[in-house]
Amino acid sequence: MADFAGKRGLVLGVANKRSIAWAIAKRLADGGAQLAFTYQGERIEAGVRELCGTVDSPLVTVCDVRSDDDIERVVAEAGEIFGGELDLLVHSVAFAAAEDLEGRFTDTPRDRFWMALDVSAYSLVAAARAAEPLMEAAGGGSILTMTYLGGERAVPHYNVMGVAKAALDSSVQYLAWDLGAKNIRVNAVSAGPVRTLAARSIAGFPTMEAIVEERAPLRRHISADDVGAAAAYLLSDDARNVTGTTLYVDSGYHAMGM
Ligand SMILES: NC(=O)c1ccc[n+]([C@@H]2O[C@H](COP(=O)([O-])OP(=O)(O)OC[C@H]3O[C@@H](n4cnc5c(N)ncnc54)[C@H](O)[C@@H]3O)[C@@H](O)[C@H]2O)c1
Repeated sequence: MADFAGKRGLVLGVANKRSIAWAIAKRLADGGAQLAFTYQGERIEAGVRELCGTVDSPLVTVCDVRSDDDIERVVAEAGEIFGGELDLLVHSVAFAAAEDLEGRFTDTPRDRFWMALDVSAYSLVAAARAAEPLMEAAGGGSILTMTYLGGERAVPHYNVMGVAKAALDSSVQYLAWDLGAKNIRVNAVSAGPVRTLAARSIAGFPTMEAIVEERAPLRRHISADDVGAAAAYLLSDDARNVTGTTLYVDSGYHAMGM
């Protein structure tokens, strides 16, 4: 298991124990990392605080990623706790209106199109920019986000979230170029379907699962812990020369033509 002793991280996107962000956080904490967390709002605060208590988190704070002020405050709070330095940033956040994950992509209204891209893609750019000085002070850092194949190919029902993932995937590459000069790496894990809160709002989710079982080379589902293991690799020093890339944890589904 990767060694994260002495590493300090900030994790965005834990909603509950099923969240992919939580599977990643557990793995990092098991390896010895100290982790600060953000949660989206009051509705999930108590549950997130309880979970984060189990890994002795020194900071659990609210953050709506649509707000640059929130993102900057949160990173500053993490900087105070961690002596002005940060090694790891986990971005595991996405949102699209449920009605836009049901019907036709063609019918996505302008305001909800931008909302999906704001929350699901721009937030990585804003968080990376805020974290940059702390990671530079640490001598480098590693940033990880979560993506899905629906950003590269049309996946029925994924709709505007696919367009947001395409923007996210491209942002990973541009951020990798900009921040690489400061030894800051930026990567993504592309996960197959995992039953989480966010997944429940995708109308065709059970169909996506059934198709993976039938057509993925390994013919089985992945778990959030599988994503945690891949994320831990990309975040660790073992991946010191890996940046701007996407690691697929999807039982091989992405390799298939039909
Ligand atoms: N579950 C899957 O099948 C799957 C597959 C591939 C990629 N992903 C991606 O993994 C990431 C995590 O999703 P998950 O499946 O763990 O679901 P989840 O619901 O547990 O996590 C999504 C998180 O986004 C947060 N969020 C949404 N809007 C926000 C806002 N305005 N400000 C701050 N936080 C906000 C939610 O609070 C939640 O913590 C997402 O990027 C998702 O697209 C999920």
